[in-house]
Parts: sequence; C-alpha cells; structure tokens
Amino acid sequence: MTYNEIRKAFLDYFESHGHKIVPSASLIPNDPTLLFTVAGMVPWKGILQGIEPAFAPRVADVQKCIRAGGKHNDLEDVGFDGRHHTFFEMMGNWSFGDYFKEEAIAMSWELLTKVFKLDPNRIVVTTHYTDDEATAIWKKITGKDAIRLDKDNWWSAGDTGPCGPCTEMHYDMGADLPGGLPGSPDEDGGRYVEVWNDVFMQFDRDANGNLNPLPKKNVDTGSGLERMAAILQGKTDNYDTDLFVALKRAVSDVTGVRETPENVTSFKVITDHLRSVGFAIADGVIPSNTDRGYVIRRILRRAMRHGQMLGHRGALLSKLYPALITEMGDAYPELAREQKRVVEIIENEENAFADMLQNGMKLLDAELPKINNGVLPGEVAFKLFDTYGFPLDLTQMILRDKNITVDVAGFEKSMAEQKERSRADTKGTRVLWESQGDLPATDDSSKYAPDSSLQSHVLAILKNGEFVKSAVAGDEVEIALDKTNFYGTQGGQVGDMGTILRDGAPVMNVMETNRVDSVVIHKGNLVADIAVGDTVTTQINEPVRQQTARAHTATHLLQAALQQVLNDDVEQRGSKVSPDSVRFDFSYGRAMTSEEKTAVEELVNKWIAADMPVKHEEMSLDEAKKRGAMALFSEKYGDKVKVITAGDVSCELCGGTHVYHTGEIIRAKVNKEKSISSGIRRITMSVGTLAE
Ligand code: ALA
Repeated sequence: MTYNEIRKAFLDYFESHGHKIVPSASLIPNDPTLLFTVAGMVPWKGILQGIEPAFAPRVADVQKCIRAGGKHNDLEDVGFDGRHHTFFEMMGNWSFGDYFKEEAIAMSWELLTKVFKLDPNRIVVTTHYTDDEATAIWKKITGKDAIRLDKDNWWSAGDTGPCGPCTEMHYDMGADLPGGLPGSPDEDGGRYVEVWNDVFMQFDRDANGNLNPLPKKNVDTGSGLERMAAILQGKTDNYDTDLFVALKRAVSDVTGVRETPENVTSFKVITDHLRSVGFAIADGVIPSNTDRGYVIRRILRRAMRHGQMLGHRGALLSKLYPALITEMGDAYPELAREQKRVVEIIENEENAFADMLQNGMKLLDAELPKINNGVLPGEVAFKLFDTYGFPLDLTQMILRDKNITVDVAGFEKSMAEQKERSRADTKGTRVLWESQGDLPATDDSSKYAPDSSLQSHVLAILKNGEFVKSAVAGDEVEIALDKTNFYGTQGGQVGDMGTILRDGAPVMNVMETNRVDSVVIHKGNLVADIAVGDTVTTQINEPVRQQTARAHTATHLLQAALQQVLNDDVEQRGSKVSPDSVRFDFSYGRAMTSEEKTAVEELVNKWIAADMPVKHEEMSLDEAKKRGAMALFSEKYGDKVKVITAGDVSCELCGGTHVYHTGEIIRAKVNKEKSISSGIRRITMSVGTLAE
C-alpha cells in the first residue's frame, strides 16, 4: 500500500466506526509549553483536559508532527537508521469520554490484522505494569500475554498536562535483524518496531508533578505512517518506501549524485529535513534566531551541510520543494497554496548561509590538525557560530564521523562573553553613527512602494566598531546608503530584511534595518566585497514585509477593538510589530476577562473578514486632527503626516507600512494578556498564516 492508500484505509476504518474525520492541525501548536505539534493529541489537549468542549465524541485524523526540540526530539538520530524522522505523520483516533480500553484495543487489533493484514503472530504487545485491565483485554481478544513495562508505557506530551498508561503494539520485522523484545536491553536494535500506541488519558499532571484525575476517561492513539508504510511495503527502512524513494530521486536530480551505501545518510537527512522545513514554513514558521524559528534554521543548515557532502553548492531545499508538493500536496493542499512564499523564504535562508558554510568549513578544516585530544576548543565552535552561522549542533554533527566532540562549556563561556560585549556594542554602534555628523539623512521616501530598480550609493561602512572604506565577503557590517527602500525600525515596527545587490548580484544579506536619527542603517553579512562609493540596488524581502504590514494594520484594528470592548479611554503605551506578530501595551486598570479577549479577537476577525479598504494618505497635521485621527502624545510629528484609515473603524497617524485591504491580514489570534506595570497591560496577537 502506498502512503495515500494507507491514510485512506486508516481514515475509512475509523469513519465506519463512528469517528468524525478532520484535517491535520497546524505544526504550530496553540500551546506555550510546546515548540511544535509533537503528536496527534496536541490539538486536542484542551478537550482532553476538559477545558474545551469536545466537538465530537470520536475523532480520527492524520496529523503532521515535528519532533526536533524539547522533550520529544529525534533530530540527532535522523539519517543513522531507517526509523527516525524530525517530521512525520501520525495517524490517530480519539475517544473524548466515549469508548475506553476494550474498544480501543479491539479496533487497533482489527485494523492491524484485518485491514492492514499484518500477521498476528508477528505482533508483540506491551502494557503499563500497573495496568491489569489492558493486560486482561489483550489476553481476551488475542490470547497474547503483554510484556509489562514502566516508563515506556506511560505517555505525556510535555512535563505537565494530560497523560496516562499506554499499550503499545510492536511488529517483528524479521529474525535476521538485530535487536530484542521491547523492554530488553537491546530493544533499539531494529527488529521490533513500535507501530501503534494507545494511551488511556486519565490524568492531568500539574507543575508539582501531582497526577489529578481528568473529568473524563479518554483514548489517544498514535501510529506512525512512515513505519506502517515500511511494513506494508516489505521494507526494513522507512526511507525505502514509495514517498521517500521519490524524494531521494529528486535529491539525485538536483545534486546530480546517485545514492550509494556511503552517502545514504545524506539522502535520508536531506529528505527528512525537506519535510520539516517545508511544512513548518508553509504553516507560518519563519527561520530566525529564537525558538521554533531557530529549530527550523538549524535543520535547514544541517540539510545544506549534507548537500555539501554530496558535492552540491548553494540552494538545495528550495529546489526540492516542488518534489515535496508532488508527493504530499494531495494530502496537504497548504504546500502548493503557500509555494511562492515558502520557496522565497527558504531561498533567502539558503543564499544567506551558502558562503558562510563554505568558509566555515575551511576554518574547521584548518583547525582539525591541531586537535590531539579529540575535543574541538569551545572558542573555535563559537567562532563558527558567531562568524559563519554554524549552530552548535551542526558543528557537532560534522565532527561526529571523525569522533571529535566539542567543548560545550567553553562554547557557552565564549557565548556569554560575546553577549556582554554586544550589550556594550549596541550602544556603541549607535554612538558611533551619531558621531558621523556629516552623514546626510537617508532618502527613504520609496519605502512605502519599494521598487527594486532604485539605485543608491554606499556612504559609510561600519565594521568591528570602525568606519572603513571597504569590507570583504564574510564580514558583518553596518552600512548607510544615500537612498533606500528598506524600512528602518521605528514607531514600534521592526525594520526590513532583504538583499543589497551590485550589478544584479547579491553583495549583502541584510538581517535587520535600524535608524539612527534620520540615517537608515542596514545590518548584515557581506557575501561579496563592498566599498564606499559603490552603486547598488536594494531589494527588500517581500514576504517578510507583507507579514509585517499585515501585523501593523492588525495592531490598529486591535486598538480599535480594545476601545470598543473595554472602553474609549484605552490608550496605546507602546507596541512592537514584527512579521505576523503584534505586541501592544495599553493603559487599563485590570486584567481582561476571557470573554473580553474573545470579544476583541472576534471583532478584529470580523473586520478582517469584511475586507475593508485601508487608505494611506498624507495631509497636514491640522487636517488629520480635524478628521479625528488618533495620535500618540509622546510622538513628535512634522507638518505633513501620514494617516492610515481602515474602513470606518480606525483612523491613526502612522508612519509604518500597511496592507491595502483588511482581508490581507487573513486572521488574528489573541494569545496572552498580562500586566507589565501598574495600570499598563500587554496583549500579544498573531496574524496571517501564523494565526491560521
Ligand atoms: N500520543 C501518543 C503518542 O504520541 C499516542 O505516542
């Protein structure tokens, strides 16, 4: 059976047993304790805990999952066997207070042996050592004696939340494979593969570790699709199943290299990482230096390293993404829907890292002969991190084959020292720019309608605290131009990312754009040499700009909604507008109730759905006041001001970038609301694909 056939057989079976079939939820969970959706139950956590009502008593789906950080992390194992993935699909069925152990076990058994037609004699079952009930049910239904285990048969998604004893079904892949029975010392050998886990969710673990009984007894099950495919296709390696064979073929097409026993690890890593990076970005993750954005950046960089090991240079995953759509686009339409944006984001990431990878490897190769105790000094790993963007785990991965480890404590020490320096530095560069009194104000009038043919000139280059006439590829620099279409951070809106080009070729990857008084400062890494006086063009990263623009217009709607729901006196006290996310501080004397939060969110979404026009106008301050435009008392305004009007609900003085119709915001989701000081509340909201 192919992947498509297995998904269908699974869902058909549970549909015919009274389950409501639902599509996969996002990989970005609505849950601050998790970075990613790590299991099929994550979207149902609130239901299992009895906080949210169940929309059906029985549900089944095939859920996209990523296990690459936190409690559930398989990143280090990918490529070295045939069973581990950072991205995988989990087939699952749930009972929300409906059936319990007996029916769950009976259905699992019937599906495995009657629908998938697995040999009953090759299935081994385990139960929790305290669970006499499940053990007796297995005996009654199948005649089998379960192996009774402790930790392996207790399941929870995180350190807190719903959990309970579980029963696992393992399949014997063949006596010729190494490995022993579940629970034996060599259980990881590969002979017995866990194919299904039925969890009996009975408890809610609190932060103190107490197990509190849940209001209802639930069933949560999970069966890994990739393993099931391997078994049903007679393979011992998941990466030899139809979907992966096709993806590996695409890797060959892009790299021009055939799979061999020597390079198979790279083929596995690249195909696995293509799935996590592609799906995560399609769901709204943006590679960055924090949280889930950093997990995805690290995975992408590891994939590039494996591309390099195959002799490939430059962009890789962005070229493979169409193959992912071919293989998985029917089951997951978001892949094709988001294609343009995803490919652009991956390409930007890959272009930014390609040269750093080559140069970092040169540095590492030069250091290796100096190592005599099998440990790479922490400062070298830190230099790779700081100058060449090598995440620590990438360096560790590269050295793993050579049996060299990294002095992690030394790495962390260098990191702490660097943080200290840069704290002093950030102030430092501002002061340095301020000291350049003769620099003219940057003409950034084209920032609202960025046109990539705008030509400008390099006026100043700041490198390592000094103004220099030129700098070379690999340098981290700050650059001022006479003209730019980049938006420099101001008014709470974070600046643009993008590329500076010369003769059409990238010279600098701009990671952030700031303003010092009226000078716009582009900060980033050079990918080619640059000199004062060079003629360049500036190209903003459009998807990131769009994500920021929709977040900014959403911020205005949020303020209007807060005034309607709470009261007219709510006033802005600060804000931070980033790609797809909004942080808004406002004056208000007490915490919002959950009804108020819901009402605000609903109002903002109503305005988004109404697709109201957003007018961008310039007028005199007096004129704006006459219109009743909202303004911030703390801001200074010139004679001419920009006024942003969204339908008939919001009219604000604002110099930020905005969408032209509220529908472009797609969706808004209020996340948290808390106090930050007396009388000041902070609310955070996601918009766009992130909110979706
Ligand atoms: N939530 C259970 C698991 O992931 C089914 O194994």
